Amino acid sequence: MKKYSHILWTLLFPALLCAQNRIVLNADLGHDTISHNIYGHFAEHLGHCIYGGFYVGESNTKIPNRDGVRTDIIEALKRLKVGNLRWPGGCFADTYHWKDGIGPKDKRPSMKNVWWGGVTEDNSFGTHDFLNLCEAIGAEPYLAGNVGSGTVQELADWVKYTNQETGSPMTDLRKANGRDKPWRAKIWGVGNEVWGCGGNMKPEYYANIYRQFATFMTDWGNSDHLFRVASGANSSDYNWTEVLLRDIPHNMLEGVALHHYSVIDWNKKGSATNFSEEQYFKTMKEALRMEELVTRHSTIMDKYDPKKKIALVVDEWGGWYDVEPGTNPSFLFQQNTMRDAMIAGTTLNIFHRHCDRVRMANLAQTVNVLQAVLLTDGEKLLLTPTYYVLEMYNVHQDALLLPLDLNTNDYTFGDEKLPAVSASASRDKSGKVHISLVNIDPNHPQEISIALRGIKASGVSGRILTSGKVQDYNTFEHPDLVKPVDFKGATLSGESLKVTLPPVSVVVLEL
Ligand code: AHR
Repeated sequence: MKKYSHILWTLLFPALLCAQNRIVLNADLGHDTISHNIYGHFAEHLGHCIYGGFYVGESNTKIPNRDGVRTDIIEALKRLKVGNLRWPGGCFADTYHWKDGIGPKDKRPSMKNVWWGGVTEDNSFGTHDFLNLCEAIGAEPYLAGNVGSGTVQELADWVKYTNQETGSPMTDLRKANGRDKPWRAKIWGVGNEVWGCGGNMKPEYYANIYRQFATFMTDWGNSDHLFRVASGANSSDYNWTEVLLRDIPHNMLEGVALHHYSVIDWNKKGSATNFSEEQYFKTMKEALRMEELVTRHSTIMDKYDPKKKIALVVDEWGGWYDVEPGTNPSFLFQQNTMRDAMIAGTTLNIFHRHCDRVRMANLAQTVNVLQAVLLTDGEKLLLTPTYYVLEMYNVHQDALLLPLDLNTNDYTFGDEKLPAVSASASRDKSGKVHISLVNIDPNHPQEISIALRGIKASGVSGRILTSGKVQDYNTFEHPDLVKPVDFKGATLSGESLKVTLPPVSVVVLEL
């Protein structure tokens, strides 16, 4: 044996020195479709998401707008292909009375936004504004109904107002307010975080309340039935999901929500831009926890709903840090770096791989709040690294998920480790295969060899989002520091693809 040991070392040493990431892509084994609704966003009456973000009003502004909504935002969101847009909250939803936000704007009552800084809410952005905005950007509306402080009647009336063709006081009211045809809003949330800001309820109590509210929410003759989403668990509260699936009849439940934010420590979240590698590692650990959360919530759902009729709806996710210095602490305005791009790329890969159950998700939030895709400063609009990840990934929308086996190197920090590479793949309706890859390691590039099974690729192209440091971000002075460019790091030879991902990078390949 000794005689041959040097030969063994010669063969093994290079492999040990540079462990190889390997992917086997099974392009002929697709079964499930990645819903466009995984690419949903969230717009709450919070800080400058709606007012000073989306909505600048029709008068007294030089900013180009359509019925008060910024035209540059409409165009940016059209390019993003927003699956659905959730509104008006969040915690705000369970204080919101929709009838305050219809009719002549100068006659609408004002209220205090008790959750977000106690600012005056003048209700100038209401139901018509939101549903017309969804039409303008081509997104499905997702209305979050008020269960915490609202009534069954109020929510049932909202459904009638938006969806019933004719024949009731609500439809007459809609027509009197200038909208003849109903919008036919399909997706409805029945309360938000009812375990917390939405009413501090226990799951058994909420399950009963849900049954009552959902009974009076009907589709009013739409060919598409309403898609009702029950307020879901906070991260790993598995009992919450268990009780809802057990106690709510499945013919009145289309989706169950889940909220999970990537936060290092709720009491010490840390800066959005000025963070250490330790903080980065901890954020990514929380982001990657999404894999375990959706797996375990799905397992509970499988027990009660083995045919997977009810969707898991991750309707709040993203990174949450301290607000930018000097900004209102209640407005949750944070910058967005390559760390956020890593959260977005890895989380979407997780959702893709679980698309049989995760059929909807909403990144929190669209403009100027938390992990925003867009930031505004007066007339200026900035696209964040997160925006670019969602834009690069939108090729996966409504495409067939292609299963893959991934063997990845570790990203180690101290004595902890995380998978360095994250991946998912799909085939779109025109036959193109897309592979999205993320390297979260800030210190090492990753070389990946991909075995292509069940596909004869004739060429490969791609785009990459990366930057020198994981702390890099776009500013209003330098809005193009982080943006995608063509990717030249992939070579195809027969049924094998070699890819080198730089540290902290997101790549989407097209075959
Ligand atoms: O997205 C900000 C807040 O986070 C939402 O209002 C609430 O639902 C969650 O706690």
